[in-house]
Amino acid sequence: MGQGRLEGKVAIVTGGASGFGKGIATKFVGEGAKVIIADLSKDAAEAVAKELGCRSMLTDVTKREHWQALLKFAQDEFGGLDVIVNNAGTTYKNKPTVEVTDQDFDLVMNVNVKSIFLSSSVLVPYFLEKKKPGVFINIASTAGIRPRPGLTWYNASKAAVSNATKTMAVEYGPQKIRFNAVCPVVGSTGLTHLFIGKPDTEENRAGFVSTVPLGRGSTPKDVANACCYLASDEAEFITGVNLEESRSTVADVYRLQKAYRLGKDVGIRQVTKRGSRVEFAIRQGNLPEARMGVIYEAEEVESKSLRHNYKIYVNSEHSCCNNQ
Ligand SMILES: NC(=O)c1ccc[n+]([C@@H]2O[C@H](COP(=O)([O-])OP(=O)(O)OC[C@H]3O[C@@H](n4cnc5c(N)ncnc54)[C@H](O)[C@@H]3O)[C@@H](O)[C@H]2O)c1
Repeated sequence: MGQGRLEGKVAIVTGGASGFGKGIATKFVGEGAKVIIADLSKDAAEAVAKELGCRSMLTDVTKREHWQALLKFAQDEFGGLDVIVNNAGTTYKNKPTVEVTDQDFDLVMNVNVKSIFLSSSVLVPYFLEKKKPGVFINIASTAGIRPRPGLTWYNASKAAVSNATKTMAVEYGPQKIRFNAVCPVVGSTGLTHLFIGKPDTEENRAGFVSTVPLGRGSTPKDVANACCYLASDEAEFITGVNLEESRSTVADVYRLQKAYRLGKDVGIRQVTKRGSRVEFAIRQGNLPEARMGVIYEAEEVESKSLRHNYKIYVNSEHSCCNNQ
């Protein structure tokens, strides 16, 4: 037996054919786990499984019988199951909430939430019956904690994932079945163009990424490293955690962006400039200049114009945003 951190463990990774899931499957195989990639995309799943030297199974995570078949496959092929990473997820394209269709709503709730329900409904009884510790890792999102506009029901679906994770952690802690969630901030995957409502380019991601304190989006490797820890015995005393990768303060940012866009009633006035840092005052409504609101600090991030190229820091909390 090797020295991998997941040596001897059998893991299902849903949505493992691409994006974060592929990163998770790659890490798990590298750390000695026996992995089953469970994905709706049969060809992509088979190709990744071949590349990694693991197994794949055509799975629709919204179907109970597919979860039952996955459990049987794990038992027949590997003699059991230890870890489930509920990573498969989807979204509709970023749009005004009043334009979201019934189909959009059903899609995110089925793929993102019902999948967690079904995985626990089918697999928890297995762990209970075998009296063995099990590990559930659910991929939620920072969107479920600090939501952005235009993705109301995706955000709500991820909030449900986070909440269900915490609830089941409390409920099944006594049986040593652990439930944790990883909440990535935006990354560059097959879903990103839908999140931002535009093509997934560095330029179009910039508004999202500018709110991330560590200065970049998340990668499959980031998500995989967090999952590896939570799946490993190093995390045997960790349950009910929503591990955020990485924290930002989006609510403040959007309040400010909205105010900035209102134009004639709200203004930003340059107060002082120190090196590349600029202080702004926000003027709201018809308040006289003497009663201008909070002072904001900004840092020039490009050099084209005052209107579009400042990163704004709100008060002393140092939440930041791009003012475009
Ligand atoms: N990309 C981001 O910025 C971001 C940020 C936070 C959270 N997430 C979450 O990360 C997870 C992975 O998404 P990703 O960004 O890697 O996207 P992705 O589109 O690259 O991967 C999603 C995978 O899930 C599979 N899938 C979709 N519906 C399925 C179903 N019904 N049954 C089985 N498989 C299905 C797809 O075939 C695909 O392989 C999702 O839960 C997503 O919500 C993504």
